[in-house]
Amino acid sequence: MAGSRGGFSSRLGFIMAAAGSAVGLGNIWGFPTQTASNGGAAFVFMYLILAFCLAYPAFMAEILIGRFGQANAVTSLQKMSRTVFQKRFAFVVGFGGIICAALILSFYGIVAGWMMAHTIEPIAKLVGSDATANWLVSFSFVRNLVFTALFVGLTIFIISRGVEEGIEKWSKRLMPMMLTLLVLLIGYVMTLEGASEGLNAYLNPDFSRVLEPSLLLSALGQAFFSLSLGTSVMVIYGSYISKKENMVTLGAQVTLIDVSIAFLAGLLIIPAMYVAQAQGVQIFAADGSLLSEDTLVFTVLPSLFTSMGSVGAFIAIGFFALMSIAALTSSISMLEGPVSYVVERHNVERKKASTYIGIGIFFLSVLIMANFSTLFGLVITISTKYGQPIVAMLCCVFVGWIWQRNSLLQELKEGHQLVEEGIFWKIWPIYTKVVCPAAIGMVFLHSLS
Ligand code: TRP
Repeated sequence: MAGSRGGFSSRLGFIMAAAGSAVGLGNIWGFPTQTASNGGAAFVFMYLILAFCLAYPAFMAEILIGRFGQANAVTSLQKMSRTVFQKRFAFVVGFGGIICAALILSFYGIVAGWMMAHTIEPIAKLVGSDATANWLVSFSFVRNLVFTALFVGLTIFIISRGVEEGIEKWSKRLMPMMLTLLVLLIGYVMTLEGASEGLNAYLNPDFSRVLEPSLLLSALGQAFFSLSLGTSVMVIYGSYISKKENMVTLGAQVTLIDVSIAFLAGLLIIPAMYVAQAQGVQIFAADGSLLSEDTLVFTVLPSLFTSMGSVGAFIAIGFFALMSIAALTSSISMLEGPVSYVVERHNVERKKASTYIGIGIFFLSVLIMANFSTLFGLVITISTKYGQPIVAMLCCVFVGWIWQRNSLLQELKEGHQLVEEGIFWKIWPIYTKVVCPAAIGMVFLHSLS
């Protein structure tokens, strides 16, 4: 459909790929973790509001830039620029997003590697190799190296096959698999003692916390990370969408799927923590908050699996496989950002570009692993706390202030003739022009103080 660049063959293809990018460790690890440390349902509530009011309009801006430009982020942004200054600005924004995607992949690949190692561990135990099992779940440079290499290798394999044969095909295979695993695990955990207490903690909001700045900040950051904003990734996915598609509903569907899966993941993780507590596992930190992040995923949940006896091994495999699959459909989008740029701007063949860029990013991961205590947190902060909000904000500025209104409307009309009459066209343009940049800017400035 989009000539030799390739493109998604169907609406479902795009939805699966974009939802695959959106749903990742951010939803299944980050969201429940943030919920746990930000007062349960109050966080969920604000997350839903921010996802639809701020992240969705910004998401629309990015996929529209891509579909209009029919190219990688830099070229697409340059197509709507009229002056030399705007073209330079376009380069900075587009390229900034691409660098951001590469940086995110460099730490994401390490975490995803841990998930793969944890998937195999119960198998090693089942066949009686306790030493191997132990090695798989202990933090070491060699273990990290092996599994990050494996994970980045898989990512390169899929991306080198292209949009339809790689991204679309694998997203369509992996997403249903992931969803099935998630639902089965929720079903099982709900039958266990302690689950209802967890549900209560998850679904009963403490409204007094709803406007806490730190809660808002985490919720917005989480929504941006989850929708993969500010990294050129959604621009490039947008560019593979057919001109026949209605972008307004397509964007809303992806946002809805993303938010729903984050919500579902919370239904699994928070009750699972309370089940663990009923089994005698400690789930609260000294200050009374729920344990979160790596302690939650690599200590609390594994203790729960162990306490379940032999069925626990299968549940552990299912859980970590779920994490690994979700990570893979996300990482392919991160690699596609830089790869599409090099393929289109420098005429490099896709296979070559995927391999070299993938290996380059892997070396960055090795650097992080070798200096873990200093670099790991730093790269996460630079890319997700600074890079993503800034680039996402600038994309909104582009759409709101630089893209000519008429041309924008024409683009929206492709696939949705009557868009002018609907509520979207009444609200969204002013939203992207003023509300989104201002709100993102404010939250960003607050995060610096
Ligand atoms: N959204 C993914 C998650 O929740 C992460 C992700 C995938 C991402 N692709 C991205 C983040 C591109 C930033 C940029 O885990």
